[in-house]
Amino acid sequence: MSSFLRPLAYRHRWIYDLVTAISSLSVGGVARLRRLGVDALADRLEPGAPVLDLCCGSGEAAAPWIAAGFQVSGLDISPRALELAAVRHPSMRQVEGLAEEPPLPEASFAAIQLSVALHEFPRAERDAVLRSCLRLLRPEGWLVLVDLHPAGALLQLPQRVFCALFETDTAIAMLEDDLPSQLKDLGFTAVQQQLLAGRALQRITAQRPPSLLPPKP
Ligand SMILES: C[S@@+](CC[C@H](N)C(=O)[O-])C[C@H]1O[C@@H](n2cnc3c(N)ncnc32)[C@H](O)[C@@H]1O
Repeated sequence: MSSFLRPLAYRHRWIYDLVTAISSLSVGGVARLRRLGVDALADRLEPGAPVLDLCCGSGEAAAPWIAAGFQVSGLDISPRALELAAVRHPSMRQVEGLAEEPPLPEASFAAIQLSVALHEFPRAERDAVLRSCLRLLRPEGWLVLVDLHPAGALLQLPQRVFCALFETDTAIAMLEDDLPSQLKDLGFTAVQQQLLAGRALQRITAQRPPSLLPPKP
């Protein structure tokens, strides 16, 4: 469930862009928000390494990776978003599909980015998406995810209003979960969480181990 504003924002691009601009002020603006993934991982990767932007939307958070010289693929469920991505970022390889079952070969990426997308999934599907990441990453490849985190006192009210107007129940549910623990339980190692924007946002980096163990039940 979400308010009528959410589908409206997806239908009219300027509303989506305006909401993103306002909600990213606390992190230093849209450009900074978009760079959070590449800034976290660029130094750990080979130049030109293959990178997947999972749930890429129109590719805005893929753009800094492309500019940094990585070979970027973007996967999204929405053909409309991918059409826009093709116009805005023609060098990005487009993949239409489900993040839970990506139609991509195993161990084919040095890094995967999930930029403000994981909150769109209920917990079980979130597990499926993160398992897909483990499967698609090369051994010792890196995941970076940027998403909502329960805000500190100052931004608590604005975050609640924002979630009520523009987010789904899955986003509100995700705020109650501990993502670093979820990643560790699934088999990721070197999990590191950084809280940003008055704690309203979290950036997590995590590594696929050299060999995959079965996840904890
Ligand atoms: C909030 S947008 C984020 C887009 C982009 N990552 C960014 O940082 O601007 C979430 C995206 O997830 C996509 N999405 C939602 N469910 C999906 C699924 N099951 N598989 C693939 N993409 C999905 C939506 O189409 C949308 O483009």
